[in-house]
Amino acid sequence: MPKLEIPPDPFDDAGMDVAEAFMRLVVRYFAATADSSGRVSTALTPGELARRFDEPLPQNGTSIEAVLARLEHEVLPDCNRLTHPRSMGHQVSAPLPVAVWTEALTAAVNQSGAVWEMSPVGTVIETQVIRWMCDLAGLGPEAGGTFTSGGTEATFAGLLAARQAAIPDVWTRGVGANPPVVVCGEHAHYGVARAIGELGLGTDRAVAIPSRHFKMDVGALEQELDRLRRDGRTVMAVVATSGTTATGSFDDLEAIGRLCEARGVWLHVDGAHGASALLSGTHRHRLAGIQYARSIAWDPHKMMLMPLTASVVLVRDERDLEAAFSQRAPYLFHARDGGRRFDQGLRSFTCSRRIDAFKVWVALQRHGANGLGALYNHLCANAGTMHALLTARPDFVTIHEPESNILCFRWIGDGTLNDERLDPLNLRLREAYNRAGTGWITTTMLGGRRVLRVTLMNPRTTATDLARTLDDLSEIGKQLQAEDNIV
Ligand SMILES: Cc1ncc(COP(=O)(O)O)c(C=O)c1O
Repeated sequence: MPKLEIPPDPFDDAGMDVAEAFMRLVVRYFAATADSSGRVSTALTPGELARRFDEPLPQNGTSIEAVLARLEHEVLPDCNRLTHPRSMGHQVSAPLPVAVWTEALTAAVNQSGAVWEMSPVGTVIETQVIRWMCDLAGLGPEAGGTFTSGGTEATFAGLLAARQAAIPDVWTRGVGANPPVVVCGEHAHYGVARAIGELGLGTDRAVAIPSRHFKMDVGALEQELDRLRRDGRTVMAVVATSGTTATGSFDDLEAIGRLCEARGVWLHVDGAHGASALLSGTHRHRLAGIQYARSIAWDPHKMMLMPLTASVVLVRDERDLEAAFSQRAPYLFHARDGGRRFDQGLRSFTCSRRIDAFKVWVALQRHGANGLGALYNHLCANAGTMHALLTARPDFVTIHEPESNILCFRWIGDGTLNDERLDPLNLRLREAYNRAGTGWITTTMLGGRRVLRVTLMNPRTTATDLARTLDDLSEIGKQLQAEDNIV
C-alpha cells in the first residue's frame, strides 16, 4: 500500500496572523492612495506585465509571506488605483471600505444565491434589498427581481422577460420568422444591441431613436412607434436610459413611460448608472416616471460605490421574470414560504452565484440611504465644479451640462486648430496624460468628434484635483501641438 501523504491543513491560514497580514496590505493601499502623490495607473505595456507573470505552474506551495510579498510588489503597484483622487476614468467606483471588508465575509460563508437551502439568510437578505430598491422605484407590491453580474446581464434579463411577454411560447418554439423589434435611444449602452442578438431577434430588429441634447427625442420615438404600427411590426420593448454611458444624461421617463403605457409596450429602463439617483433628494427627479418601467437595470457597483460586482434587475411583476426563466429543476427549486419561493435561481440567468446583496445591505446599514444619496450628490457636484472650471478656461470647450457625474469636454488649445486636427490631438492627449500617471481619464466620440470624458466615482476627489487635471491636460496638449507643428 502506498503511504498517503497528509496535506498541510489549508485552514492554518484562517488565523488572525494571516488575516491581519492581508488586511494590512489593503489598509496600506487605501492609505497610499489617500492623497494625490502616487501614480494612478501603470506605465507598463500589457506585454511587459505579461512577462512578469510568465512562469511555470507552481507545483508546490510557498510561504504566506512570499505570497503577500508578490501581491505587494508585483500586483498592487500596477493595478489601476481607483481610490486615487485623480482617478476619473470609467464607471467603476472607488469602493466603500465597509463593502470591501464585507467581501471577505461573503467569500468565507460562500452561500450560493441560486436556492434558499444553500443560502438561507443570503436569499432572504437579497430579497429584502431588492424590495427596498423596488420601493425606491415605486414599482408596487408585485415587484421583485434578482442580483445579476452587471448592468449588461440585468438588461438581458429584463429584455428576456419582455420577449416572454411578447411571444408566450418562445421558450419551446423560438422567436419565429418575424420576431418583434426593440426600440432604444442612439446613445443606449451596447449591451442593449447585444441582448437583442443574444435573444435571437437579430440585431437588425434594433431601432435607434435620435437624440436631442443627448436624450432620446420623444417626438421621434412617437413617430417611430406610429410607423412600426402602420407597418404591422410588433414592438417587444422600448429601452430608455437613465444615465447614458457617454454623457450621463437621463431620458424623459415620464413622457416615454406614458407613451409605452398607452400603447401597451414594455418599457425597460437601463438605470445601470443613474438609478442610484433614487437615493438622492436632489437628483431623484431625473427618474420621474420610472414607475412606468416593466423592468429596470440598476448597478450598485456604479453610483452606490460597491466593489464589483453588485447589480440588479427589477421587474414590476416578479412573475414576468419567473416566466422568462421557466425551467423545471425539482432537485433544486423547492423552498416555499408563504407562497413566494426564495430560490433566486428561478429568476436568474445564473445558477451558482455569490450573495452580492450582503455588501449592499451592510453599506445601507452603515451609511443609510441618505448617506449613499449624499455621496451621489457629492460626485455630481464635482462634475458641476469641473464644468464651471472648464467654462472659465479658453483652452477647453464643454460639450454638455452635467446631469450626473459624467462630463465630456474637448481641448482646443489656443483656438487656432480645426476639428480635423483636434480629433487626433485629443485622442493622443488622453493617451499621453494617462501614461504620465498623474491622473486617468477616458475618451469617446460625440457627434462624430473626439472628446475627453471623466467619470467622477471617487469621494476623495477635490476641486483642487479637478483643477490640476485640467492644468496637466492643457500642458500636455500644448506639447503635443508643438510637436505636431514641427512635423
Ligand atoms: C448605461 C449603462 N448600461 C449598462 C452598462 C453595463 O454595465 P456592466 O458593466 O455592469 O455590465 C453600463 C456600463 O458601463 C452603462 O453605462
